[in-house]
Amino acid sequence: MAGAVAEKSADKMTQAREISVSEFFEKNRHLLGYDNKIKALLIIVKEGVDNSLDATEEARILPEIYLKVEELEKEKYKIVIRDNGPGIIKAQIPKIFGTLLYGSKFHRLKQGRGQQGLGISCAVMYSQLTTGEPTEIISSTGDGRTHRYKLKIDVKKNEPIIIEESEEPSKKPWHGVQITFIVEGIYREHKQSVLEYVKQTAVANPFADLIFDSPTGRLSFKRGIEQLPKEPQEIQPHLEGVEVGVLSRMLHETAARSVSSFLSTEFTRIGKTTALEICEKAGIDPKISPRRATDEDVIKVVKAVKEVKLTKPPTDVLSPLGEELIEKGLKKELNPEFLAVISRPPAVYRGFPFQLEVGIAWGGSIAEPNFMRFANRVPLLYQQGDCAITKSIMGVDWKRYGIEVDKLPLGPVAIMVHICSVWVPFTSESKEAVASYPVIIKETKLALQEAARKLSLYLAGKRRAEYQAERMKIFERYAEETARALEELTGEKAEKIRAQIRKIVAQAKPEDIEGEADDAGGASEGGGGEE
Ligand SMILES: Nc1ncnc2c1ncn2[C@@H]1O[C@H](COP(=O)(O)OP(=O)(O)O)[C@@H](O)[C@H]1O
Ligand SMILES: [Mg+2]
Repeated sequence: MAGAVAEKSADKMTQAREISVSEFFEKNRHLLGYDNKIKALLIIVKEGVDNSLDATEEARILPEIYLKVEELEKEKYKIVIRDNGPGIIKAQIPKIFGTLLYGSKFHRLKQGRGQQGLGISCAVMYSQLTTGEPTEIISSTGDGRTHRYKLKIDVKKNEPIIIEESEEPSKKPWHGVQITFIVEGIYREHKQSVLEYVKQTAVANPFADLIFDSPTGRLSFKRGIEQLPKEPQEIQPHLEGVEVGVLSRMLHETAARSVSSFLSTEFTRIGKTTALEICEKAGIDPKISPRRATDEDVIKVVKAVKEVKLTKPPTDVLSPLGEELIEKGLKKELNPEFLAVISRPPAVYRGFPFQLEVGIAWGGSIAEPNFMRFANRVPLLYQQGDCAITKSIMGVDWKRYGIEVDKLPLGPVAIMVHICSVWVPFTSESKEAVASYPVIIKETKLALQEAARKLSLYLAGKRRAEYQAERMKIFERYAEETARALEELTGEKAEKIRAQIRKIVAQAKPEDIEGEADDAGGASEGGGGEE
């Protein structure tokens, strides 16, 4: 009996085979966010535009991006994304667009929009899956030649299938990339749409010129500043967060001759002395070859790392937007009455530097609450509730700052939060929400509280001014009668008395006006102590 079962399962095992990453994501496209037709358009636009912004920024070119979404027939769209970036060399084009998990950003620690090397090839796969159409890529690196490809993905092999390929002299020399997708989708203009993504991208990237030809007309976003933010720096991993498996792999890949030089060359901020101290604490010979380190040695090193005081990773490697850019972006797109902007100093999670920035805009053209989340300058439009940023906003005691709240703040308020990091911890491959590391929530709340304090001072001042104006009006109303009555009593001219009353009212300080005392009190004690 048992024998028969074993035989049957052995039979099944012979049918088992390797699964390619393309097959996996074809079946699980929801993991990348492709779970409905409206969102599909957004993701494809986002993957293309994010790549264009990454490429131009890395090449230190002021971005000019053209985007078109055109309805071809019901639920079928053409999406064109064009940039003025460095372009892609011929040999790389098929691999980048025709292979999942092929990219230049996964193996490095540097602030950027892309990370996994999944984005653009998945867009190609989604297009062929829903319409059967190949994706067209046109690119030039500025060498006077233009390459054009039409390709699909061989899903079983995770390889490109080249449908058409040509190379021509460029009519005019240019550099950049243009991609054309034909996809199934639905175009809407609500909160979580392509339109919202483009608008928010303009806020967080005010150095970019964006043109969006949408199914409802053209929108142009002119750059508000002629300068790129400072270039982020790539860093080595930090020992603080390293795990046994990763350390073991790194030991086998390194070119270092000894374990101690491995530690000091492959990790950031580890000098010779610290490397030797770690080896000593782990009880291993610092001179042995990294390849000779056993699994036990690796475990000992990871333990020893926890006992040694490590220098924090360098934090000047990030490129935050900065208070001036945030201000420019928010003013340009929202035209608020008041703006409070905070850029926090960098902090570290699991050995990765990160930094938080917050802008709170109030009044003006803002009609209703608006929350904008950004990670490395990319707007996050979905999974608001699962995001560390939303949790942080909900964790602030807004009432203390004079702002009404129903879980999230109410009123004519726009809150933008930007996290930048050499590695943003997203909750999933679809990169829609930031994971809730306690230190990230803490930093976000501190930034929000600092900005909220500024806003509360402004609102208190405004309330006081309004109150005074109201009092003035009441006095004015009675001034006339009082002046006339006093004229009769004292014989003084009504004209003169009226002027005298006005002068007294205008000079009255707020605290002279009864009932005003407590108004701004809460704000000054808010913030710091709040957890
Ligand atoms: N518009 C572009 N210009 C230049 N290079 C690009 C462009 N789009 C994509 N690339 C290159 O293709 C790679 C893969 O892109 P993608 O699949 O979106 O992954 P990721 O952005 O996560 O690295 C990028 O790392 C980049 O090197
Ligand atoms: Mg990308």
